[in-house]
Amino acid sequence: MTKIAVLGYGTVGSGVAEVLTRNAKLINNKAKEEIEIKYILDLRDFPGDPNEKKVVHDFDIILKDPEVRIVVEVMGGLHPAYDFTKAALEAGKSVCTSNKELVAEHGPELISIAHANNVNYLFEASCGGGIPIIRPLNSSLTADDVDEITGILNGTTNYILTEMTQKGLKYEDVLKDAQERGYAERNPEADVEGYDAVRKLAILSSLAYARTADYKKIYTEGITKITPDDIDYAKALGMEIKLLATSRKTIVDGVKHCYALVSPFLIGQDTPLYSVNGVYNAILVHGNMLGYAMFYGAGAGSLPTASAVVSDVVDEVRHLGRTLVFNWNPAQLDIASIENDKRRFFVRVSADKADTVKAEFGEVKKVELANLKNEFGFVTEQLSEKEFNEKAEKVGIISRIRIKDMAE
Ligand code: HSE
Repeated sequence: MTKIAVLGYGTVGSGVAEVLTRNAKLINNKAKEEIEIKYILDLRDFPGDPNEKKVVHDFDIILKDPEVRIVVEVMGGLHPAYDFTKAALEAGKSVCTSNKELVAEHGPELISIAHANNVNYLFEASCGGGIPIIRPLNSSLTADDVDEITGILNGTTNYILTEMTQKGLKYEDVLKDAQERGYAERNPEADVEGYDAVRKLAILSSLAYARTADYKKIYTEGITKITPDDIDYAKALGMEIKLLATSRKTIVDGVKHCYALVSPFLIGQDTPLYSVNGVYNAILVHGNMLGYAMFYGAGAGSLPTASAVVSDVVDEVRHLGRTLVFNWNPAQLDIASIENDKRRFFVRVSADKADTVKAEFGEVKKVELANLKNEFGFVTEQLSEKEFNEKAEKVGIISRIRIKDMAE
């Protein structure tokens, strides 16, 4: 019997309890060990809940109980999650988590503390909800030089953009709905401004490129400026707007760099990410031997996320007393400014700008919407961000959306 403690009985924590109850027999068979929740740490009480007697309010009870071998940290946020995680690892307890904020900020340090204490720190649920992606990057793609990751890494924003596109709903109404369904972060700014996606991108890039990607150095733009008119233009182009998180290894002036950004992109039907709708996430990984592989599934929500957390619990039970190798080097990944990164752009300008558009961008094909008589849109050739910004400033544009073309 392995006893565990769950820190936080919210959306994910209650999901962990449900997964462990509903699938108890098969989980125990796969772990070759019976797994039992001994404590649940939360500030609240849960009268009437089947686990109400397991609820404690003092972390020290868990820390000092030698019977607890695994701690599941699903509280979110940096503090006290960091302090509890560190203390648990130092006390010789393995920890698993869905907390991307903590993993993005302190991942290599916590892995190293875990290994120094002969235990494990696992975080499958930190990226892509229920999608297995951490384990494949760390354990499966070991024969490949992974050089690109492009993903839809936030369920809330994908849900919002899909509902706006397919049902013509208003941004505010869909956001409320996503919050009620338990997809959104406590502070929805983290979702809609791209802060959640950028942390996940940093974690995946760190594992893929075996260097630590600092999420604070990654250019991040959210979806709050996307309007119903942008969505109509996307439809006219036969494209969809998605919040993408993308990074790629490249060589600038003979030196290895990584371009990384989170931003709304227009994507065409030639990318499998086009069909990723609703709360679903997908991660396209490119390796020099593999080519492209896509990992797809529910990116948020109680049970899918809990399924990934419990898979880590099973792995930790299977490896009690042994550490799992992690390909995450604490040395910093060199993140280049995106100003030299090249792509096409979709641009909206007022109708009277046709001549300046021609002077700066050359002959362009106009995209016009019947209800917007005073403006038109067009797609540029491939330009670096710097070149584009200079031209856009000269023209005086209404707005622009980046375009993500599939690499050959
Ligand atoms: N708020 C996050 C999302 C939850 O919407 O993707 C899963 O990390």
